[in-house]
Amino acid sequence: MPHMLYTWLTERLGIRHPVISASMTGVAHGRLARAVSRAGGLGMLGIGSQVPVEFLADEARIASDDGALPFGVGLTAWALPGRPELVAATAAQRPALVSLSFGPVRPGDVELLHAAGVVVSAQVHNPQAARDAVAAGVDLIEAQGTEAGGHTGTVAMLPLLQRLRQEVDVPVLAAGGIGTPEALAAVLVAGAVGARVGTPLLLSQEAVLDDAARDRLRAAEVDQTVLSPLFDQVLRPGWPQDYPVRTLANDFTDAWADKVDHLPPGAEARRQVTDAVDSGNYDLAPILAGQAVGLLTAARPAADVITELAEGAEAVLRSRVPGLLGER
Ligand SMILES: Cc1cc2nc3c(=O)[nH]c(=O)nc-3n(C[C@H](O)[C@H](O)[C@H](O)COP(=O)(O)O)c2cc1C
Repeated sequence: MPHMLYTWLTERLGIRHPVISASMTGVAHGRLARAVSRAGGLGMLGIGSQVPVEFLADEARIASDDGALPFGVGLTAWALPGRPELVAATAAQRPALVSLSFGPVRPGDVELLHAAGVVVSAQVHNPQAARDAVAAGVDLIEAQGTEAGGHTGTVAMLPLLQRLRQEVDVPVLAAGGIGTPEALAAVLVAGAVGARVGTPLLLSQEAVLDDAARDRLRAAEVDQTVLSPLFDQVLRPGWPQDYPVRTLANDFTDAWADKVDHLPPGAEARRQVTDAVDSGNYDLAPILAGQAVGLLTAARPAADVITELAEGAEAVLRSRVPGLLGER
């Protein structure tokens, strides 16, 4: 049967499924993006504050399968004033979508991307940021709930989605905690034009993660993540404190997440965490993941994750909605 989930997102981006993969810096490179786009979603490249322009060009070639597939790019907004070359270099790759996260959206960046035919979105965490991004010209708002993996805000996805739908007159996408077909169906019914998923893809072979991290992700439950500015204070002091980061809980977060301000600047713990990142010691080093990590069981190709979410959501809507509406 042909797919039947049509939304603003599928129509505007020309994709089959209303699902985009998260632009996870260090994890979502060209292979993962290509697999997601091949499966009918939109695969995104994670281009963080430090990523060189050459990397973007190389991975865009892989993501697009040499120009055959649509793909997207996620940029870190707060870093763009210090990286003026990055927006133009991104536009030059002709992505279908550029998503700006974690910081104010600059109208000039949106204009430059629009001139290249790119759809522009902003991933936000509160109504004010959504209003500001719409005023700056974005086409789409991504409501990132606190349950999401990586840097995020403090409001849960559903209240945020509902509130942003009241607040802005552009389409809204849901991000955070969506790991089953039922959840995708739910956000579509709640008015989202699609979902952005990161954590559900972490065990896929195409994600860049070592085996020790995968083992921990497989074992983690829904209540074993922590949202804290702790790791950024230690490892990435440039990160704005407005955006804490959600990671798996480990010995380091157990010891310090509640008392970040008491971690002395020269503390031995800081050096230990830096060493742990280098050696892959995840008792201390961070693994970014959202609360949906509790749903992860086995490694599966990214294409299977996307197909199951989208086709499953369609099946859920077909089978459950008539039952809910039926007469007794
Ligand atoms: C490992 C990991 C790394 C992430 N890195 C980024 C990033 O570099 N830029 C960004 O905008 N979002 C990043 N995110 C957040 C995602 O874009 C997205 O909002 C989130 O994964 C959606 O929620 P979920 O993890 O519950 O699926 C990351 C998420 C994860 C899990």
